[in-house]
Amino acid sequence: MRAPGVLLATAFLVLATLPWTALSDGDHRSIMWRGDSFAVEDTAASSSSSGHVLVSPSGNFACGFREVATNAYTLAIWITASADATVAWTANRDAPVNGRGSRFELRNDGSGLQLQDFDRSVVWSTNSSATRADRAELLDNGNLVVSDASGHALWQSFDWPTDTLLPGQPITRYRRLVSASARGLPSSGFYIFYFDSNNILNLMYDGPEISSNYWPDPFNKWWVNLRTAYNSSRYGSLDSAGRFTASDNLQFNASDLGDPAVVMRRLTLDYDGNLRVYSLGGAGTWDVTWEAMSRPCDIHGICGRYGVCTYGLGGAPVCSCAEGFVVADASDWSKGCRREFDVRCGEEVDFSPMPVADFWGFDYNYTEGLTYETCRQICLDDCNCEAFGYKRGGVGMCYPKIALWSGRISDFRQVIYLKVPRRVHKFDPSVLRLGGHACAVREVSANTSASYLRGAMMRGRINFVYFYFFLAGLFVMEAIFIAVGYLFVFRADPAARRIRDEGYSLVLSHFRRFTHDELSSATCEFSDEVARSASGAVYKGVPGDGRSVTVTKLEEVTQADEVFRSDLSVIGRINHMNLVRIWGFCSENSHRLLVSEHVENGSFDKALFLDGEDSAVALGWQSRFGIAVGVAKGLAYLHHECLE
Ligand SMILES: *[C@@H]1O[C@H](CO)[C@@H](O)[C@H](O)[C@H]1NC(C)=O
Ligand SMILES: *[C@@H]1O[C@H](CO)[C@@H](O)[C@H](O)[C@H]1NC(C)=O
Ligand SMILES: *[C@@H]1O[C@H](CO)[C@@H](O)[C@H](O)[C@H]1NC(C)=O
Ligand SMILES: *[C@@H]1O[C@H](CO)[C@@H](O)[C@H](O)[C@H]1NC(C)=O
Ligand SMILES: *[C@@H]1O[C@H](CO)[C@@H](O)[C@H](O)[C@H]1NC(C)=O
Repeated sequence: MRAPGVLLATAFLVLATLPWTALSDGDHRSIMWRGDSFAVEDTAASSSSSGHVLVSPSGNFACGFREVATNAYTLAIWITASADATVAWTANRDAPVNGRGSRFELRNDGSGLQLQDFDRSVVWSTNSSATRADRAELLDNGNLVVSDASGHALWQSFDWPTDTLLPGQPITRYRRLVSASARGLPSSGFYIFYFDSNNILNLMYDGPEISSNYWPDPFNKWWVNLRTAYNSSRYGSLDSAGRFTASDNLQFNASDLGDPAVVMRRLTLDYDGNLRVYSLGGAGTWDVTWEAMSRPCDIHGICGRYGVCTYGLGGAPVCSCAEGFVVADASDWSKGCRREFDVRCGEEVDFSPMPVADFWGFDYNYTEGLTYETCRQICLDDCNCEAFGYKRGGVGMCYPKIALWSGRISDFRQVIYLKVPRRVHKFDPSVLRLGGHACAVREVSANTSASYLRGAMMRGRINFVYFYFFLAGLFVMEAIFIAVGYLFVFRADPAARRIRDEGYSLVLSHFRRFTHDELSSATCEFSDEVARSASGAVYKGVPGDGRSVTVTKLEEVTQADEVFRSDLSVIGRINHMNLVRIWGFCSENSHRLLVSEHVENGSFDKALFLDGEDSAVALGWQSRFGIAVGVAKGLAYLHHECLE
């Protein structure tokens, strides 16, 4: 049955090793029998980076070696229909094996599957104490099952999830998802999705220095979060229609619930700490159809100690260090910042306000009804106190803090007063030095005793990226200084402070002012009118930075430049998954233009009120319901959660 070339290769390899190693990619089999083994070279030889050893009967899943860095391989199960062959499970995520001489076998003595490095050291095994393991089979649901001769399962990969749950694969008391450490790297990161001892499903940041839960909202009791602690069965799963249910009452639906066009779904705890449901479309690309955290800066640990998280282009989180701090490790922003000037116990200190930032938790001795002076004194008296939060007006809430973690720009109107030594020259910790991307690729840290991860090329690229971030940081700092200086010199009245703060957060959120000429050339002299909304004509454009935007001419707006600008700066600070992001504006002479994120497929009313002639954009009731819920979430955010 095999091609003559393969037969020749077989004949050749038989001389050296077991006959089964000669199996080529052309042999699609889903079962390994006792004694079968595969070498990493054989399976990887025919394709550039990875080859499979097993394929599920329908071909949805494949299992085999994947190259994760130069000469470093993992044994993984991946989804074949996705364009990038997305990995659903990895056997040896923290201990990749060498690209030569490593082998994967179902042991002849019946002890199960084993992965050996080139020096025959066992890197991973199913560790079934049984001696009856007879076959390993990759099933159509993506489960790799080791069973005995009578078909009784001894071990299955569904019991050892990594960062992904497939439909029908439950999360239970004994199973947890652990995120990957960086995009595209399988090694374990610091985020965990698990059932806590209260029977509640949680997302936790479990870093080297701190650990804390951030989902569901840790400030609320479980009943406020609509969970229950009284069902100790601890079981939750996603079904193939996109519905997740768990014993703690957690329930959510993918936005495309039941859509028959979806080929596959998965629930993944991503390297950035967000839990997402993905749907695979016919084109092989994944769409996010649900996510736990719509505001990524609320995820703990992404910017480390003293770091402050802000939103960059497209709502992506960006980490910064305040003035008076320096980044601890520019190649890994999750290590946060460190103080430029340490505070020694007993020395003279001052407190500098950081008006826009808030740091999560680590408050000791929260007290209400204190004056600012009393609160300051509490922090002054304690050498471990790093800063205190104080909310003026009404109750006078005082939060002394022993650590500053998970900083973000806050709309909660309290001020953090940072303890700074009096001996150093004055600095203003409310000025943030915009830093690197919160989710930048981290160094590969996994290695086995003998297989080194030689990612030199990869590291070279990373350094380049940081170089650019550094340049961008310098530029932004300069812009902040010029803007602040300008406003200081020319507006010394009390209203100026407010505007100055706005000017500063404008720079922070990449929200900016465009010139009329810039927008005119971006939209080809306003030639491409794509729609007409209640407020005016809408154009599609591509400004200098290359992303597509929507430009709306506000015909009715006649506000003075200053009022218009301050209104918009408030809008620019709002950030939510379900709200279109405003990227900037133009206010010149009588022109008032709004620049926002470009949304494909045009205006929603077209899809909603069409008369059946254009069925391509017609929406089912399921999608309409999903959209209505999404709109309601956006509105709820605007009315209740966002205090702007
Ligand atoms: C394998 O099983 C043995 C004995 O049950 C146990 O001591 C060992 O820790 C296990 N190894 C792994 C990798 O789970
Ligand atoms: C507990 O959760 C399980 C799994 O979701 C469910 O089958 C069971 O009915 C629940 N028990 C109670 C008492 O609600
Ligand atoms: C999910 O969809 C099902 C079926 O349409 C519905 O009964 C359920 O209430 C939905 N759950 C949520 C959380 O929206
Ligand atoms: C909190 O601070 C108040 C005011 O200084 C003090 O009276 C109280 O003992 C403190 N409580 C704790 C638990 O430290
Ligand atoms: C990687 O391997 C080297 C050399 O054996 C060893 O010194 C180092 O500790 C290893 N690193 C990790 C993270 O295991």
